[in-house]
This record gives sequence, C-alpha cells and structure tokens, in this order.
Amino acid sequence: MIYLDNSATTPPYPEVVDVVQKAMLSFFGNPSSLHQKGVEAENLLKQARMVSAQALQCKPSEIIFTSGGTEGNNAAIKGVAFQYQSRGKHIITTAVEHPSVYDAAGQLETFGFDVTYLPVDHDGRVSLESLQQAIRPDTILVSIMHVNNELGTIQPIKEIGTFLKLHPRILFHVDAVQSFGKVPFKMKEWGIDLLTLSAHKFHGPRGVGILAKREGVTLHPLLAGGGQESGNRSGTENIPGIAGLAKALRMTGETQAKSIAHMQKLAEVLRAGLMEIPECVINTPQTGSAPHIMNISFPGMKAEVLVHALEEHGIMVSTKSACSSKAQEPSRVLLAAGIKREQAIASIRISLSGQTSLEEINLFVSGLRESLARISPYMKA
Ligand SMILES: Cc1ncc(COP(=O)(O)O)c(C=O)c1O
Repeated sequence: MIYLDNSATTPPYPEVVDVVQKAMLSFFGNPSSLHQKGVEAENLLKQARMVSAQALQCKPSEIIFTSGGTEGNNAAIKGVAFQYQSRGKHIITTAVEHPSVYDAAGQLETFGFDVTYLPVDHDGRVSLESLQQAIRPDTILVSIMHVNNELGTIQPIKEIGTFLKLHPRILFHVDAVQSFGKVPFKMKEWGIDLLTLSAHKFHGPRGVGILAKREGVTLHPLLAGGGQESGNRSGTENIPGIAGLAKALRMTGETQAKSIAHMQKLAEVLRAGLMEIPECVINTPQTGSAPHIMNISFPGMKAEVLVHALEEHGIMVSTKSACSSKAQEPSRVLLAAGIKREQAIASIRISLSGQTSLEEINLFVSGLRESLARISPYMKA
C-alpha cells in the first residue's frame, strides 16, 4: 500500500499508540476527582500541557485542549465574535479557508455579523494589501489559514501578523492544522492571538487538538459545562488523546527539520515526474507552497475514476479535501484561485509525510502513468 493522503490524516506513530494505550489503562481517573486516580490523570494532563506549550513556545496556561481542528476553529471564531461583538461585528477571512472556518463565518452572518472573504491570486494566496483595504473600524477578527489544505499554498502569515500588531483591537486567528511539522511558524513573534492544531495531521490520535490562546484574549466558550480548560472548553478531558497528542507533538517537533528537508526533496522528484506527463496540470504553486501537498488535474477526466484506478495499484490519494471529497461540486478553493471548472473537477491531491519514501514517489508516478493509459481511452469515448 502506498499511502499518499497524509493531508486527510496521518498514520499514528507506534509510540503514540503505546502512550494512548497506557493512558487508557493506567490513567483512567477523571482529572477533576480528588482521589489518587484523579491526581494521576491531572498530572498527566499538566505534563501534556507543558510539552504542548514548549512546542508552541507559549505558556501552559495558553493551551486549550479541544477535539481537533474543527472545534478549535469554531471555538476561536465564534468565541471571539460573541465575546467582542460590542466592539464591532466585522470579521475578515479568506475565500480558501477550510469549511470549519469558512462555514463558521457563514453561520455568524446569520447572527448579524458582517464577513469579508478576501480573494486570492492564481496561486491561492491572499495579499497583505487586500487585507489592509478590508479593515474597518468595526473589524474584530482576522482568520487566515497558514497552509491551504487543498493547494498547499502558504499564506503570508508573518506579514499579516506584523501588520495587525498596529491594530491591537483586532484579534488574529490562524488555522495551522496543515502546517505543524511541515512549515514552521512562530506564534508570538508573528503576532498570532489564536492558533488551531489537530493531532491526527501529525501522527497523533484522531479527535484531539489544541487551540492556543494568547494570554489576555477572552473567548465566549462554545461549550458550557463543568468549566474544564479554564472555562474555555467544558467536558471531561480526553486524557489518552491529549497524552498521545503531546507525544506526537514532541516527536514531530524533534524530527521537523529533517522531515521537511526530506519532503522537499520528494516534492521536487514528484513535480519533475508529473511534468513529464503531458496531460497533467499542476495546480500547486512551485514556490511558496508546503512540501507535503501536490494538487494536480487531468482536464477532461473524472477525478474519482482516477482515484479508483490508482487504488488498483495500491495507491491512495484524494479528490479535494477528505471532508468534502464525497460532494460532486468542484472545489470552492480551486475555483477561488481562478482555476477553471473543468480543471477543478478533474483534480486530485497527493499528500506526503516525513515517512513517505522516494521509492513510493517513484512507484506513484509509474502507477499514475499506467492508470492514465488504462482509463484515458474510455474517458475520451
Ligand atoms: C486546514 C484544516 N483546518 C481544519 C481541519 C479540520 O481538522 P479536524 O479533522 O481535526 O477537525 C482540517 C482537516 O482536514 C484542515 O485541513
């Protein structure tokens, strides 16, 4: 099996599985309980918070454990909107966000908020100028992703964050779900107030993530309840998931430099191989993109047919992003980047991890050639 769908999810590190299992068996207490089992679980939670804070270079008190990227994004955007609405009701985001940001902003419109969706260029990138022009006296939040999950485009987060420091009343949220371990970022230096991560994108368990929140920022909590996570996220903590997340964070952080260099090399080989296939159009920009995502199209061909043909070679890739891949519509993200409908419908995404090998990339390219040769005559008929 050649697994090239790592932007959808990554296989967990075996060490993470061990930690999760150990936590489930031995640290099953509720961290809010006063007895020994509770205290043991609470200590594990504290340790995971410390590890997470170290990885993100923030304070342990700035870490909120969540159920993943979708929750982190919703909690940040709605949390800011409802908390700061007396300051203003204008939010800025982009046309290429993940649905957990884009649709959360859309829901806020139904609550009377005004949302500006910044356009992107042909690479899928927003410009600082368009953001500057969109800012209004009633703007309370800017939410922009770091790495786009479909195209791999890196947004100019450092420039935007630096500019927003001039507007301290506007909070800056970054969806960094696709960047941790692939494209380094600096939360504090770049002026990021809120940052979302999801463990299953870096070999951690599913259903757990982090919303890092700068000290001094208050969120209206999405979930009311027992007041866990300093009142920001009620609900009994997912200790095994959180312990596994901390393990994956540490392992990914420690191997990041090597892993990025490795993925960059693989991406070059992949791009060179794809460029030799005449029907292939590469949608991912050559510069300013993450090393793990390659989006390509075969205009005139149905992406699903190709995905299934590749599967017969034991190769797993996806159409669009996993969450929306069952929908028949062309990708909103690709259309926003000015990619034509016919090309957008025919796009597939290949996504790597630090564990992908050169041999797998070569086998993918030959498998792709064979699949195309097999299905092309039928597609043209
Ligand atoms: C950029 C981005 N944001 C958010 C999410 C949602 O994360 P989760 O699957 O943990 O809810 C994803 C998942 O694909 C993503 O790629």
